[in-house]
Amino acid sequence: MKNKTSIQGSWASRWIFILAATGSAVGLGNIWKFPYITGENGGGAFVLVYLACILLVGIPIMMAEVFIGRRARKNPINALSDLAEESEGTRKWGIIGVMGMLSGVLIFSFYSVVGGWVLHYIIAMLTGDMANVTSDQAGDAFGALLANPMTLLGWHTLFSIMTIVVVAAGINKGIETATRIMMPALFVLLIVLLGYAMTTGGFAQGWDFMFHFDFGQLTWNAALIALGHSFFTLSLGMGTIMAYGSYMTKNASIGKTVLTIGALDTVVALVAGLAIFPVIFANGMDPAAGPGLMFISLPVAFGQMPFGQLFGTLFFVLVGVAAWTSAISLLEPTVAFLVERFKMKRITASIGLGLVVWALGIACLGSFNFMSDVTFFGKNTFDFLDYITANIMLPLGGILIALFAGWVVKDKFAQDELNLSSTVFKLWNVSMKFTAPVAIAIVLYFLINPLQ
Ligand code: TRP
Repeated sequence: MKNKTSIQGSWASRWIFILAATGSAVGLGNIWKFPYITGENGGGAFVLVYLACILLVGIPIMMAEVFIGRRARKNPINALSDLAEESEGTRKWGIIGVMGMLSGVLIFSFYSVVGGWVLHYIIAMLTGDMANVTSDQAGDAFGALLANPMTLLGWHTLFSIMTIVVVAAGINKGIETATRIMMPALFVLLIVLLGYAMTTGGFAQGWDFMFHFDFGQLTWNAALIALGHSFFTLSLGMGTIMAYGSYMTKNASIGKTVLTIGALDTVVALVAGLAIFPVIFANGMDPAAGPGLMFISLPVAFGQMPFGQLFGTLFFVLVGVAAWTSAISLLEPTVAFLVERFKMKRITASIGLGLVVWALGIACLGSFNFMSDVTFFGKNTFDFLDYITANIMLPLGGILIALFAGWVVKDKFAQDELNLSSTVFKLWNVSMKFTAPVAIAIVLYFLINPLQ
């Protein structure tokens, strides 16, 4: 299986793989979702569990996904089946890839709606609609957006089209430039926001909220959300990183590469939290405000700082780009599969899949208005899809990938790709065989059988 390349092409270097995978990882998960779920789950203890999950479960599973993809050089379903066969296991392991495609479709449907909110805020910032808003006004403006299905539909449609165009063109070209220039710029603006947060008078309280570990606050549900989010934020558990790994060059070190991606992703999330919470506290807002947290706190911050209109516009543009490079990666595994398995043209596969996810997105945006009384297990469509994908489907995908990499794939093949020192390989192997699956299983078990 050596020296093959994927029929979809390959990244020009290790650095470009890092850019692309970071582009996938860093997205709304870091800037929108991480702060709001941290706020809903009481802060510190939640953040600590999240960091532990990244390190002990996320990073080792990411290494597994990359090597599986790179060894097989195929879409996730075929990569898993081929590698199983090579290790004398059953090709049925490909089913993980099928479940992954479904997760990608479901995640995209709400992701694109939030991507649409970001696009709306670019214009709101640019035109000065948000200049000097109070926290109440910012909350009302967000509420008004959610109440208007046609506006939401327009932005959701635009975001979907932007994504499908890049996927149809082949992700190699599109993603490289977007990530190389825009990611560092996004980071610079986050630092500007952080600098502003330090002047608000709420910084100490924000810091304390994120890093004061009060385990009395932690519930099994919060632990599950932290675990689920470690998958979501690193793009794990559904084959995205496997697909990207299949385009990775042979000679690059997987361990170092994955650590770099994990570190970048984590830093962005923490800085986003540290930029948002001080603004929340300084203005007497509620940290548990839910999905609107970033959209009601940041306009207030930009309204108060010098050059806020400029920085605010730029910031939302860059968050839009980060969301875009992530959204692309949600569709890529399925498109790669359709092209390889059914010999479809890339453009046909992309448009076909695009129509499906776009239509599903309408149910998500309707959650805030014309479909608000449609609920599943007490959650509206938007929250329900977010919950089952991030907290159930991705961790389940993660367990299966870990068990597959640890028990099915021959150590020789894994080590062939990973090329770790023997101690580190043993640690990784133990994590795949035991630590990661057991940790995930415990959390899922207590979700189904709550103690309280
Ligand atoms: N990681 C992205 C974010 O944090 C979202 C994402 C992209 C994703 N591809 C994924 C999540 C695959 C899970 C699986 O915004």
